[in-house]
Amino acid sequence: VSLYRDRVSPVLIDLGCSSRLLVRWRRRTVAGLSGVVLEIGQGSARNLPLLPAEVTRVLAVEPSGAMWSRGARRREAATMGVERVGREGERLDLTAASVDAALITFTLCSVADAAAVLGEVARVLRPGGRLHLLEHGLAPDARTARWQRRLDPLEQRLAGGCSLVRDPLAELASARFDVLEVEQAYAGGPRSWTYLTRAVATPRAT
Ligand SMILES: C[S@@+](CC[C@H](N)C(=O)[O-])C[C@H]1O[C@@H](n2cnc3c(N)ncnc32)[C@H](O)[C@@H]1O
Repeated sequence: VSLYRDRVSPVLIDLGCSSRLLVRWRRRTVAGLSGVVLEIGQGSARNLPLLPAEVTRVLAVEPSGAMWSRGARRREAATMGVERVGREGERLDLTAASVDAALITFTLCSVADAAAVLGEVARVLRPGGRLHLLEHGLAPDARTARWQRRLDPLEQRLAGGCSLVRDPLAELASARFDVLEVEQAYAGGPRSWTYLTRAVATPRAT
């Protein structure tokens, strides 16, 4: 199991994230980011080359050594400083209100506790700071959703806990984020994996 988890699964996950169809979605997701950006689940750092010039530093959280290694070249080529500040988004060793913005792409689908991750993001974002999110998730049409429910147990086993049936907007709402911008569509490719949600959201002022 650990050979699969440590060697095979990172390659498959990274392959899934490398699709050219996703680059345009990634570009729209990172648009508007600036200053110090927290990235949860940086993986192989596929967003780094796309970040706007206004981003001055990236604080990366990534549990998998194998995924982190696969991003080495992109991190070396990055124009801003990139620092790994933690392993799990559920527990961030960062002070409250210490980052300008947060970025999560294709990671809320895999984390053990999405509510805890979003709670931590809300805590460390400065007032008015925004989370830029891109996820696949539960499809709106019944036929695809049925397939997603059938495939989900296998997907979770083979792809590092990735679930096909999560609803990113519902997760944002229950973590008390206000959604400022949203785009949802099939990106092309197999429908169970490609119903995408791009959102910009900010923690609700209490
Ligand atoms: C499908 S990959 C996406 C990687 C990258 N964000 C991208 O868009 O290419 C999901 C990543 O989330 C990471 N991950 C899993 N659980 C996590 C957690 N609890 N906190 C932070 N990252 C996590 C995985 O190790 C993996 O690198």
